[in-house]
Amino acid sequence: MYSINRYHIFIVISIFIFFAPFLSLASVNNYWQRPILSQNPAFSLYPENCGACHKAQYDVWKDSLHSKAMSPGLMGQLNPKDDPEFAASCYFCHAPLSEQAEYRIQKPEVRSQNTGAEDFDYIKNPSFDNKLKLSGVSCSVCHLREGKVYGPPARKEVRSQKSEVRSEGQKPHNSFIERDFFEKAEFCATCHQMDEGYELNGKVLTNTYREWKESVYSKSNITCQSCHMPDRQHLFRGIHDPDMVKRGVSFEIAKNEIGKDNIKISLAITNSGVGHFFPTYATPMIIIKGFLIDGKGKIIEDTVKESYIGRKISLDLTKEIFDTRVPPKGVFNYQYENILHKDAERFIIEVKVYPDMFYNGFYKAILKEGNAHNKKLIKEAIKLTERSVYTLYRKEISLKERRG
Ligand code: HEC
Ligand code: HEC
Ligand code: HEC
Ligand code: HEC
Ligand code: HEC
Repeated sequence: MYSINRYHIFIVISIFIFFAPFLSLASVNNYWQRPILSQNPAFSLYPENCGACHKAQYDVWKDSLHSKAMSPGLMGQLNPKDDPEFAASCYFCHAPLSEQAEYRIQKPEVRSQNTGAEDFDYIKNPSFDNKLKLSGVSCSVCHLREGKVYGPPARKEVRSQKSEVRSEGQKPHNSFIERDFFEKAEFCATCHQMDEGYELNGKVLTNTYREWKESVYSKSNITCQSCHMPDRQHLFRGIHDPDMVKRGVSFEIAKNEIGKDNIKISLAITNSGVGHFFPTYATPMIIIKGFLIDGKGKIIEDTVKESYIGRKISLDLTKEIFDTRVPPKGVFNYQYENILHKDAERFIIEVKVYPDMFYNGFYKAILKEGNAHNKKLIKEAIKLTERSVYTLYRKEISLKERRG
C-alpha cells in the first residue's frame, strides 16, 4: 500500500521551498499585468478618497513624485488622439489603470488576411476618467485589483500614531488581501527596471533593480521599501530631495596640499548609502566644480575645473557619451590641481545636483525642432526642470594665512 512517509513530506516541502520564490515572482508579475483591468469598486478610486481614512499615507504620497507622474513634461509629449499606442507605452508606468487611458485596444475579430498579424485598433474608452488620469501613480494603481484592496501583511506591533486609520466605524472595503510581495523589491522593479530594448553600450537604460540585486543591500534584505518607504511611510524620495541624497552620499577632502605657488585638493565622494548606482538613471547629472576666488569674491578666470557624475546619453537615446556613476560603496575622486594665482584668496569646491538635466535638454530640443505636441506644457516643464537644481555640498578653504 502506498503511504505518505516522512521522506515524501521532505520531498514535497523541498520542492515547495525551491519553487516558492518563483511562485512569488510569478504572482507579483501577475499582479502587475497592465493596463490594470477596470475596477468598478463600490467606492471611489480617487486618492483623496482613500486619504479620508488613510491620511498618513495620503499626506506624504501627495508630495511624492508618484503623485506627479502625469507631469507637464510627459503630457506635453503625448497626443493620445492621434497616437494612442505611444501614449499607452508611457501610461504603462505613469498611469496604468484602464480608467486612466483615453483610448483602449480593441482586439480585431479577424486576423489581417494578408499578414496574419493582429492589427490592434484603439477605440474611445468609455470608462476614461480624466481626474483619475491626472492622479498618476496613485493608491489604486498599487493597491486595487478588480475592486479589491491588496496590501502588505498587517503590522504585528501596535500601530504608531502616524499610521493610524481614521475609519470612524465605516469600512468602504470590508477587508484587504495580504500579499508578501508588497515588501519586496520586485514590486518596484515592475516600473523601475527595463529588460528589453533601450540598450546603450551594453546596459539597459534603467537598471535600478539589477544594480540593487548585485549590491550588499539585497544580500542583507535591505529593500527599496526599507530606504524609500521607511516604517511604511509613502515618501518615495529620491534624487530630487537634497536630504535624501545627503543621507546616501558622503564627502571627504582626501588630499589637501597648498603650497606657496601650487594647490592640490582631492575630494572623495562615496556612495555610502544609496542602494544602487548614484545616480541610478541617465537623467540626473551631478557637477563638481572647483575654483579660486579673489578678495572681492570674484571667480578668477581660467581656474574653474568641472567633473561630472552621471550617465550622459545623447538626446535621441542612441549614444552613451560617458558613464561615471558610482556603484554602491564605490568612490568617485575629484582632483583639483592648479598654480596659485596671485589674487587667489579662497578655494571653493561645490557639488550641484541637476536632477532633470537630460529632460531639460530634451524639452528644449523638441521645442526648437517643433516636435512638442503641446508647447505650453513643454515650456512649463522646462521651468520645472530648471527649478529642481540644488547645491549638495560646498566647502571653502582660505588661502590667505597659508601663503603668509
Ligand atoms: C472609510 C475609511 C476607508 C477608506 C475610504 C479606505 N480605507 Fe483602506 N482601510 C480602512 C480600514 C479601517 C482598514 C483596516 C486597517 C486595519 O485593519 O488595521 C484599511 C486597510 C487598508 C489597507 C491594508 C493595510 C495593511 O495593513 O496592509 C490598504 C492597503 C488600504 N486600506 C488601502 C486603501 C485604498 C487604496 C483606499 C482607496 C481606494 C482605501 N484604503 C480607502 C479604511 C478605509
Ligand atoms: C506603476 C509604476 C511604478 C511603481 C510600481 C513604482 N514606481 Fe516609483 N516611479 C514611477 C514613475 C512613473 C516615477 C516618476 C514620476 C514622475 O516624476 O513623473 C517614479 C518615481 C519614483 C521615485 C522618485 C525618483 C526621483 O527622480 O526622485 C522614487 C524614489 C520611486 N519612484 C521609488 C519607488 C519604489 C521604492 C517603489 C516600490 C515600493 C516604486 N517606486 C514603485 C513608477 C512606479
Ligand atoms: C518602465 C516604466 C516607464 C515607462 C514605460 C515610461 N516611464 Fe517615464 N519615467 C519612469 C520612471 C521610473 C521615471 C522617474 C525617473 C526619472 O526621472 O528618470 C520616469 C520619468 C519620466 C519623466 C520625467 C519626470 C516627469 O514626469 O516629468 C518624463 C518626462 C517621462 N518619464 C516620460 C515618459 C514618456 C514620454 C514615456 C513613453 C514613451 C515614458 N516616460 C515611459 C518610468 C517609465
Ligand atoms: C508605488 C506604489 C504605492 C502607492 C502609489 C501607494 N502605496 Fe500604499 N503601500 C505600498 C507598499 C509597497 C506598501 C508596503 C510597504 C512595506 O511593507 O514596507 C504599502 C503599504 C500601505 C498601507 C499599510 C500601511 C501600514 O502602516 O501598515 C496602507 C494603508 C497603504 N499603503 C495605503 C495607501 C494609500 C492610501 C495610498 C495613496 C495615498 C497608497 N498606499 C499609495 C505601495 C504603494
Ligand atoms: C540603501 C538604501 C536604498 C535602497 C536599498 C534603494 N535606494 Fe533608491 N535611492 C536611495 C538614495 C539615498 C537615493 C538618492 C540618491 C540617488 O538619487 O542616487 C535614491 C534614489 C532613487 C531614485 C531616484 C533616481 C536616481 O536617478 O537616483 C529612484 C527612482 C530609486 N532610488 C529607486 C529605487 C528602487 C526601485 C530600489 C530597489 C530596487 C531602490 N531605490 C533601493 C537609497 C536607496
